[in-house]
Amino acid sequence: MKNKGVLIKELCKNISTTGAITFSSTSLVNKMLSYANFEGLKFIVELGGGDGSITKGIVERMDPDALLLVFEINKPFCEALEKQFPQDNVKIICDSAENLDKYLNGQKVDIILSSLPLTLIKKDAREEIYKKSKNAINGQGKFIQICYSYLLKYQFAGYFGNIKSYLSVKNFPPTFILVCN
Ligand SMILES: C[S@@+](CC[C@H](N)C(=O)[O-])C[C@H]1O[C@@H](n2cnc3c(N)ncnc32)[C@H](O)[C@@H]1O
Repeated sequence: MKNKGVLIKELCKNISTTGAITFSSTSLVNKMLSYANFEGLKFIVELGGGDGSITKGIVERMDPDALLLVFEINKPFCEALEKQFPQDNVKIICDSAENLDKYLNGQKVDIILSSLPLTLIKKDAREEIYKKSKNAINGQGKFIQICYSYLLKYQFAGYFGNIKSYLSVKNFPPTFILVCN
């Protein structure tokens, strides 16, 4: 695994696409993932893998026979994620989340967990992500997003009928968790 310092430098160097200067704290990851019940979930998608802080939490919780697809556009992050998660049921996809549908083979997803910097993503691409995510999730499935702005809730409201928001103060900066279905 690449040194955390190297990954943080990469994060800051690409702030216009990463949207952050630090990775998610363990406390935020635990709180985010507490809104997902992984038991019985077989097809999981993560958007914005980064340093793998959320990926690690998912891998620790998911069923051994579940499949996890992780989308990430930053090549160095993808390479580090591939090394950190060599298991067959974790696939690192070095492509934008707006191409989600191309990797699903028409299969429905049980849950999507995202740390994408949606406010920085261009409107067209962002709307593709919302639309394709909504279409990809099965009837009972959830989309869980972490974000710094509560206002993102209103964008999700265009695609998801039910949105609950929570705040994690044990992260820098404090972060909202939107649970959408
Ligand atoms: C705020 S960082 C979060 C990283 C890590 N998951 C965490 O929680 O600390 C957002 C990540 O999303 C990635 N990203 C940005 N736009 C993306 C896109 N369109 N598709 C996939 N990944 C994207 C960035 O490269 C970055 O690694």
